[in-house]
Amino acid sequence: RNVTKDVVWLGGDDRRLALFENVYPVPRGVSYNSYLLLDEKTALFDTIDQAFTHQLLENVSFVLDGRSLDYLIVNHMEPDHCASIADILFRYPGVKIVCTAKAANMMKQFFEFDVDQYVVPVKEGDTLSLGVHTLTFVMAPMVHWPEVMVTYETTEKILFSADAFGSFGAIDGNIFADETDYKNQWLPEARRYYCNIVGKYGPQVQALLKKASRLEISMICPLHSLVWRKDLDWLLEKYSRWSSYEPEEKTVLIAYASVYGHTEQAADAIAARLAERGVPNIAVYDVSKTHPSYILADAFRCSALVFASITYNNGIFCNMETLLHQIAAHNLQNRTVAFLENGSWAPVSVKHMTDTFASLKNMKVLEESLTIRSSLKNCQGDCLEALVDSIFQSLA
Ligand code: FEO
Repeated sequence: RNVTKDVVWLGGDDRRLALFENVYPVPRGVSYNSYLLLDEKTALFDTIDQAFTHQLLENVSFVLDGRSLDYLIVNHMEPDHCASIADILFRYPGVKIVCTAKAANMMKQFFEFDVDQYVVPVKEGDTLSLGVHTLTFVMAPMVHWPEVMVTYETTEKILFSADAFGSFGAIDGNIFADETDYKNQWLPEARRYYCNIVGKYGPQVQALLKKASRLEISMICPLHSLVWRKDLDWLLEKYSRWSSYEPEEKTVLIAYASVYGHTEQAADAIAARLAERGVPNIAVYDVSKTHPSYILADAFRCSALVFASITYNNGIFCNMETLLHQIAAHNLQNRTVAFLENGSWAPVSVKHMTDTFASLKNMKVLEESLTIRSSLKNCQGDCLEALVDSIFQSLA
């Protein structure tokens, strides 16, 4: 698929994969994007996942139409993009691999071929002329691995952005974001992709955004999902917000762990009372039903988070523990947090949940936690209202 006259998308759309990185459900699949630029010299931007190597080789051969491949630009060495490198070298032994020194070292770890024979190492600001098109290399460490760089094509002003600005979801024919109802159909999966894959590395993403702000960009070609040629400011604003851990909306996420439904009932009571106070777009999740990647993504969206857990094995319920660990591991910050615990004889989950969040920055934990013993009782109405009031006031 041509994305410009000289740049061709050669990706693969994986709709069979159940778990991306063997952990994240991808019910709408995922795309692995590779791009080929045709100029006096030819350059392939990243390879592809092993599952699509055959397709990539076929596509590269078709588009080259008998020409040689001069350069393979390796922006990122994670195997969903680098798995086909050796296959490309086997087909095109004269190719030069352009990548960072760190990427070259990783290549030696992943492959057995003589990496030094092929690699042209580049660093910040280095350029490579392909003819009409000139490439400039911009380092982007920890977006998402330490060896990552992005490549800026100066003639058509295209940013080949590696993992940045990608999304979960296979490309369904429409390759450009502006050909889709992106805000409704793609944004939740783009947010889930960002928060789970790169969310931990907000400062590094901010550093890349700062460099990108100095470039005139007309198109963004990421390694996953849709190509951007319109509304780039909207996309950059989302990334700016996510990477600075600022919520998108003043609203509340409630995640509960419940075995027999009593804690769920308390969570629903909080949600209903917040809704009655006019709070829009409240999200309520059962941590045993919904994969933590979805709840983490919505926690990046919401300004206030409520966690309600039964006490289990004298600690937090296992699925809630996983969720809280994921939130802490991704460095979420700048939120109001409230806790609710249930325990039929020794409720302790508030203490453990509080401890889990102790290392996170700018988390305002509300004093009004709520303890229920087995079930929420009518006589606890005042405590419930006080907790709801406190959450509501945090949204002002
Ligand atoms: Fe899509 Fe970090 O690889």
